[in-house]
Amino acid sequence: MVAETGSGSKWRLVLSMSLLFMLILQSGHCQKEEEEAKTVVGRKPKTTKTKPGQRPGKSSRSGTPKPRVKAPAPPAAHTYLTQVVNKGKFQKVGDTLSVRAGDTLELRCKGSSVQWGLPPYLEEDDEGRLRTAQHERYGTLTLANSTGADTGEYTCFPMYCEDTECRKEYDKAVKVFIFFPDPQELFVPSEDYYEIIQLRTNWPTVLPCQVTSPGARVTLHREFPPAEVAVDGTEISFNVKRGFTIHRPKPHHAGGLYCVASLGNLRQSSTKYMLIYVNYPMAPPTPVIQASSSSVGQGENLQVVCTVLGEQDVLIDFSWEYPGQQMGRPLYTQDSVRPVGGGAARQQSQSVLLVDEVRDVDQGTYTCTAQNLEGSKSASTTVKVLTTPRSKAKPKPQKP
Ligand SMILES: *[C@@H]1O[C@H](CO)[C@@H](O)[C@H](O)[C@H]1NC(C)=O
Repeated sequence: MVAETGSGSKWRLVLSMSLLFMLILQSGHCQKEEEEAKTVVGRKPKTTKTKPGQRPGKSSRSGTPKPRVKAPAPPAAHTYLTQVVNKGKFQKVGDTLSVRAGDTLELRCKGSSVQWGLPPYLEEDDEGRLRTAQHERYGTLTLANSTGADTGEYTCFPMYCEDTECRKEYDKAVKVFIFFPDPQELFVPSEDYYEIIQLRTNWPTVLPCQVTSPGARVTLHREFPPAEVAVDGTEISFNVKRGFTIHRPKPHHAGGLYCVASLGNLRQSSTKYMLIYVNYPMAPPTPVIQASSSSVGQGENLQVVCTVLGEQDVLIDFSWEYPGQQMGRPLYTQDSVRPVGGGAARQQSQSVLLVDEVRDVDQGTYTCTAQNLEGSKSASTTVKVLTTPRSKAKPKPQKP
């Protein structure tokens, strides 16, 4: 993304906000708009620390979940992964594993060159708790001071090397889903008070309320009107490694939902999920760009118009790249949407970039990028700046 200057960025902000607003309107649920500022769409849990008071319905009573090691799954052709349970004691790892939060996880993976795949937030920042090492016959992964947030999928990829080139052997990867039961936190902590999730027809939607204990009982609930949502395993199903999946979203699934986990005396609610039903476009937009003139004299005004013809009620977000950008040349954009006549539900979205009193630095390539929920496409045009004002210069045969 290129940084934007001037009121172009203001317009973009307004557009992004109106997109969010439209999404909420389409869902028919306008409650809790005041919390929008906190919302992050599709964000993964990032911190291991839980902020106090972040989640509703939390109880500080602790039923201590027993850390359990599930019986190892029947070994595949090659079982590479073992857990180091005690000094010199190894245990074959099955499909899932539980390690009490606070303990150190130590895995070994057979192979002279292996790489590890981690839950996304650990990939970003392990706070120095993670160490991997390669020995002659095996690789090790050690995760110290574990927390419930470390819950997720751990993968060992044997590497196939030829000369100096190595690549992961995906078909020989060994995966284990590791739970870190935390007596205080039944759910993997989330940074966000609530998450917005888009429901899209015929696309399975996941409510990722991930528990830290495989033994927790998890139910799904609707905020308004308050009710438990039936989980029949067909329309909606639950998987302890993923959360709830709505297999074929319909508009009636929209609204505020949350999960409740109970284990022993402990009962906790997850982050809230705002499910929003979205009209998806068929394809990314196809912008067409045109400058008012391909060559302008210094001091004249220039307009570059970017137009998208598309489906109705599908918002297009425009962004611009232009020659004077790095110098902080403030340009202005005017965006508009209007329906296109003639039966078919289509609309024309347009962004006009206005360059007042053109200078040398404005010569070059202008690129407009149009984005909708399906993707983005760009279009470019070049503009030449004539050194002497055109009014005084001899007319040049310039245009093709
Ligand atoms: C684990 O926690 C202890 C106590 O808070 C700390 O002293 C130690 O440095 C931590 N270890 C790692 C690897 O972060």
